[in-house]
Amino acid sequence: MSTPVVTTLTSSIGAEVSGVDLRRPLGPDGVGSIRELLLAHQVLVFREQHLDVEQHIAFAAQFGEVHLPPVPTKHGGPPEVNVLDQVNPKGDGADRWHSDNSYIAVPPMGSVLKAVQIPPAGGDTCFANMYDAYDNLSAPMKRYVDGLRAVHDVTRSLMLAVGRENSDFDIDAMRARLPPVEHPVVRTHPETGRKLLYVNAASTSHLVGVSHKESEAMLEQLYAEAHSPEVQCRVRWRAGDIVFFDNRCTQHYAVPDYTERRLMHRVTIKGDRPA
Ligand code: SIN
Repeated sequence: MSTPVVTTLTSSIGAEVSGVDLRRPLGPDGVGSIRELLLAHQVLVFREQHLDVEQHIAFAAQFGEVHLPPVPTKHGGPPEVNVLDQVNPKGDGADRWHSDNSYIAVPPMGSVLKAVQIPPAGGDTCFANMYDAYDNLSAPMKRYVDGLRAVHDVTRSLMLAVGRENSDFDIDAMRARLPPVEHPVVRTHPETGRKLLYVNAASTSHLVGVSHKESEAMLEQLYAEAHSPEVQCRVRWRAGDIVFFDNRCTQHYAVPDYTERRLMHRVTIKGDRPA
């Protein structure tokens, strides 16, 4: 792989990487350097790569075993690919700050998103650096959340989509198949060793061991840390773009400000149990 050119998006998070052809195997050095960039910037944007479905899966597979989506979307393609196809996205769940699949015991380490079709205006994705979100907490707040645990529940975001008739999932069946799981509120990244805030508005239902009222108030306050523009970057998509993000230490928000078709493919990579 030739030496990539890296342009940071903000001082907190994100980098655009050019000079790399993701259609070809990266080789061990290439995989190592993209992994290093991912750990440093958390969100990597590769413009107009136009990978086909097999190349998309093959790119992700160089960074670990591909993770099959726990809530597969209906489409005729391979099961590794989740298809996000929308014209009316408001309130569907992806427009809440979240990390992918935090409602399972071992959520993916990373997601590789491909823009297949992008509306003429809108449909950006915002990303937040959850290391910085944790670092921005006051010392007393850090003491409060360190050691706390929270429950993550798939049905929180699904109920939004079902309520809007954008999905026909059977909520009870889904809860039986994917029961709620507990994760630490402050997680340590397994590769960088840094602490980060690991609760999100789409899937976290409550804090363990505190009253409902306290849990609601605390979670709102913690979620708000991802809302600060200082910890964010924003990706304006072009068709064919690939965004590879570290799903352990970021959250994202798909801006629901479009009314024409937006079609994305997502392939995720297996991760570790949050600790
Ligand atoms: C997702 O939530 O993983 C999808 C983000 C997007 O469509 O921009």
